[in-house]
Amino acid sequence: PGLLSFDPAFTATASCRSAITYIDGDAGVLRYRGYPIDTLAENSSFLEVAYLLMNGDLPNADQLSEFEHTITHHTFVHQNVKKFMEGFHHDAHPMGMLVGTLGALSTFYPEAKNFREPLNRRLQMARLIAKIPTLAAYASRHARGLPYVYPDNDLSYAGNFLSMMWKMSEPKYDPDPILEKALDVLLILHADHEQNCSTNAMRAVGSSHVDPYSAAAAATAALYGPLHGGANEQVLKMLREIGDVKQIPSYVDRVKKGEFRLMGFGHRVYKNYDPRARVVRQIAEDVFKVTGLNPLLEVAVELERIALEDEYFVKKKLYPNVDFYTGIIYEAMGFPAEMFTVLFAIGRMPGWLAQWEEGLLDAEQKIARPRQLYTGHAERAYPPLNDRP
Ligand code: CMC
Repeated sequence: PGLLSFDPAFTATASCRSAITYIDGDAGVLRYRGYPIDTLAENSSFLEVAYLLMNGDLPNADQLSEFEHTITHHTFVHQNVKKFMEGFHHDAHPMGMLVGTLGALSTFYPEAKNFREPLNRRLQMARLIAKIPTLAAYASRHARGLPYVYPDNDLSYAGNFLSMMWKMSEPKYDPDPILEKALDVLLILHADHEQNCSTNAMRAVGSSHVDPYSAAAAATAALYGPLHGGANEQVLKMLREIGDVKQIPSYVDRVKKGEFRLMGFGHRVYKNYDPRARVVRQIAEDVFKVTGLNPLLEVAVELERIALEDEYFVKKKLYPNVDFYTGIIYEAMGFPAEMFTVLFAIGRMPGWLAQWEEGLLDAEQKIARPRQLYTGHAERAYPPLNDRP
């Protein structure tokens, strides 16, 4: 009692217990419920992984088809949600729209407050996973001045999202199977990452026993920041600013002088190559076969090569993270830069929910309420207004 440890970013303090995701940052290992990320990326679908994260085991065929059916039948949103989104300014950032609209969903499902009841809780979780692609696509179409496209429940999770993003006038949208698969794998790679900033926000806000829509809005807000999910958008800006491989050495020199950071590099936990970045590089090859090469890829590959050989980055153990190549892929697939972090949010939703539920069901998990080291004044005499300098 009276003795506090000062750990402002929780770098050496476990904020919870969790059986969901394991990371060995020194070895570059990431596993969901014991399964290595590359095995899941190669063999599973995103919804299979969502089921795994939330239930602890992979689904059998019946469980998977029931789960897919449930998600597919919650993809539509209330007409008033559409109207709510229409109220945003034409140039509203889709992440801002997503934060606001996820929070607004809590008013559409007031029964979500009763989440202690397991069936009710699972219903809200299914709704969040099902509706986030619909909200994301609406946000993007709003910015593009296009009418909203209703979900197509005959398509896969990723295929339906592509349809809501890109469908114009034809009666049916046929997603390119390679792009559909690539997007599905990218969502798997983002599905969970233990106690990252947004998941920590989801747990902390959820620990007050607010409804999951409000907690998910808080998690999405945390993800919006450039040091977290916003990094993928910043990487593209950086590559465009560099523009040409000849400019890389002078850009890297400025990073080393501390003028700014190399976006898409470094990680709180990985002090080795981010295992997700490896899979992303493979996906890039598949995608570019369909879309043609993104000229910024040459700049990215050379920037990675130079950084990985540079003493500054080697000494500080700074490697490319998941965000380094995703932006280039998303751009090649036609997504506007403002949508990159939104794609991250769609992928992370099952992880947020699994972690939120795990926290609620842990009897020892109290409301998040860290202590502080007070650095302000001791008690002071109150000066009347006219006596103040
Ligand atoms: N470029 C240049 N120097 C860096 C970078 C970078 N990207 N990242 C860290 N450093 C340096 C930093 O200046 C510090 O140097 P020193 O010890 O001399 O002060 C040292 O490396 C340690 O950095 P830190 O800020 O103490 O590390 P952290 O664990 O607090 O930060 C990070 C992790 C991801 C915020 C940071 O590496 C960073 O800002 N990276 C760029 C943004 C980025 O790519 N974010 C995406 C993260 S992965 C996906 C996600 O979580 O959303």
